[in-house]
Amino acid sequence: MNAVIIDDDKRLVWSSVADPVRAENEILVQVHAAALNRADLMQREGNYPPPPGWPEWPGLEVAGVVLEAPSGSRWKPGDKVCALLGGGGYAEKVVVPADMALPVPEGLSMAEAAAIPEAFATSYLNLCLEGGMQAGDTVFIQAGASGLGMAAIQLAKTLGAKVVTTVGSEDKARFVRELGADVIINRKQQNIAEVLAQHPVDVAMDCVAGPNLGPCLETMARGGRWIIIATLGAASSELNMLDFFKRGVKLIGSTLRSRTSEMKADILKGLEDQLWPAFSSGAIQVLIHETLPMADAEKAHAILERQENLGKVVLTLEP
Ligand SMILES: NC(=O)c1ccc[n+]([C@@H]2O[C@H](COP(=O)([O-])OP(=O)(O)OC[C@H]3O[C@@H](n4cnc5c(N)ncnc54)[C@H](OP(=O)(O)O)[C@@H]3O)[C@@H](O)[C@H]2O)c1
Repeated sequence: MNAVIIDDDKRLVWSSVADPVRAENEILVQVHAAALNRADLMQREGNYPPPPGWPEWPGLEVAGVVLEAPSGSRWKPGDKVCALLGGGGYAEKVVVPADMALPVPEGLSMAEAAAIPEAFATSYLNLCLEGGMQAGDTVFIQAGASGLGMAAIQLAKTLGAKVVTTVGSEDKARFVRELGADVIINRKQQNIAEVLAQHPVDVAMDCVAGPNLGPCLETMARGGRWIIIATLGAASSELNMLDFFKRGVKLIGSTLRSRTSEMKADILKGLEDQLWPAFSSGAIQVLIHETLPMADAEKAHAILERQENLGKVVLTLEP
């Protein structure tokens, strides 16, 4: 089969690789679409290798058709699935533990379904499981127009939270307003901590961190949970320890990719129970910025590099 290989010059090259071999608990999927994540850019730079056992080429999520399945599993050949992967989605075929796949929600295209697992599982893991988000909470989501932000804003609004979010442009502000964001901060024009002081945050999902983190933590609601999921801004910040013991603020670090397949399967089960009806009814939409052929992965990466995307970018393959 073919896959998108990262070559020695960090180019993405559509190349011939060995076909994947299915283990007993796995399904073999013919990939129709694979969605991009910022982690793919980091992997390409050599900074985010796949966990052991996964292919070396990028791709954390796909949608496609089951070719082979274990007997007694919920899948059979011909089923349409979307799946969370440790890597290897930019390819014609992939094998994945049977319980890391979910049915394509009724009415959604393969491209839309491919864009669900990573962004929505990360949002559900951090806002609901790590953050314990409740209806009525104020939730802060950095980079609201990112693929992840698109999912997190809709999840938080569906579960009854008030959403405060950041964007880097007026186009992105319009995009997140349409998603339901209540308070929008232009990170290039406004002081984030000053705005948060007007809206004390119960749960934050932060992919930026950096020098702003310390001042923002000082504005949190009593008992607030601030979850760091990446350090796009910078890795260091000066923190005032008084916030932690006087107001019970918790600082949590979390990654989805490094969790075991069993943990990921549990997260996906929760996601399916809570959100699948909302996808099918259209209450939650998977917003795709652009769809490109998989052989144009290089062009697709450039969209994320330029920070242009409103929602997800997806690669497709003619089966
Ligand atoms: N820990 C985990 O398990 C996990 C899982 C999934 C994603 N993530 C992280 O979540 C973030 C979003 O992922 P994604 O795939 O949705 O990304 P994406 O679609 O590429 O969006 C990234 C956006 O972040 C914003 N941003 C803010 N500060 C930035 C900076 N200093 N450099 C670059 N971008 C900056 C930009 O939007 P504005 O200009 O509008 O601010 C940019 O468009 C990434 O950092 C990713 O690594 C973590």
